[in-house]
Amino acid sequence: KNIVILISGRGSNMEALVRAARAEQWPARIAAVISNRADAKGLDFAAANGIATAVVANKDYASRAEFDAALQGVIDGYAPDLVVLAGFMRILTAPFVAHYAGRMLNIHPSLLPHFPGLATHEQALASGMAEHGATVHFVTAELDHGPVVAQARVPIFPGDTAETLAARVLVEEHTLYPRAIRLFIDGKLLIEQGDVRVDTQ
Ligand code: GRF
Repeated sequence: KNIVILISGRGSNMEALVRAARAEQWPARIAAVISNRADAKGLDFAAANGIATAVVANKDYASRAEFDAALQGVIDGYAPDLVVLAGFMRILTAPFVAHYAGRMLNIHPSLLPHFPGLATHEQALASGMAEHGATVHFVTAELDHGPVVAQARVPIFPGDTAETLAARVLVEEHTLYPRAIRLFIDGKLLIEQGDVRVDTQ
C-alpha cells in the first residue's frame, strides 16, 4: 500500500511514522512527503531518509479550490491508498475531502469532540479539565469532526503551561498515530454508520 504524508512544519509525527514503518516492516511504502511550505523542517528528514518530497505552496494559488486541485494532482501522482495529515495546517475544501473519503486520516491534539481547531492546549488548560490528549480521526468536510479511530490521554497537572502540556501530548501522538495507521494498513478499520469499528479478528 502507498502512503502519502502531508506536513506544514516540524514533522515529528511524520518522522515517527517513517521510523515505525521501518522498525515494524509495514507492508506499505511511504511514497512521498508533501508540504504546503518550502521551509517545513520535516522535508529535510524525509529527503535524508530517501523519501520523495514535494512542495505545493498555498501562497502560489489565488484560491483554496485552486490550491486543493493542484495538491490533489501531486498527491495522486503517488497513487496513495492512504493520505496522512501530520501537522498539515490548511483547511481543506469539500471536493478535496470527498476525493479521499475513507482514506485520509488526521491527528488532532485534543480529546475530540473537545477543542476542535487551533490552540487546543490553551483551551484544555482554561477548561479546568483533568485530562487532555490526542485523537486520530478520518477526515470529513467539517474540520476535526470525522469518525474517531483512536485516542491517547494524558493528565493535566497544576502548573502546566501550554508548552509542557503540548510536549506531554506529543509524546503520545508519536505512538498513537503509527498504531492507528497500522490498523488501516492491515484493513482493520471499518466505517459503519459513520463510526469506526476496529476489526479485532
Ligand atoms: C501535532 O501536535 C499535531 O497533532 C498537530 O500539529 C502538531 C504537528 O507536529 N496537528 P509535527 O509537525 O508532527 O511535529
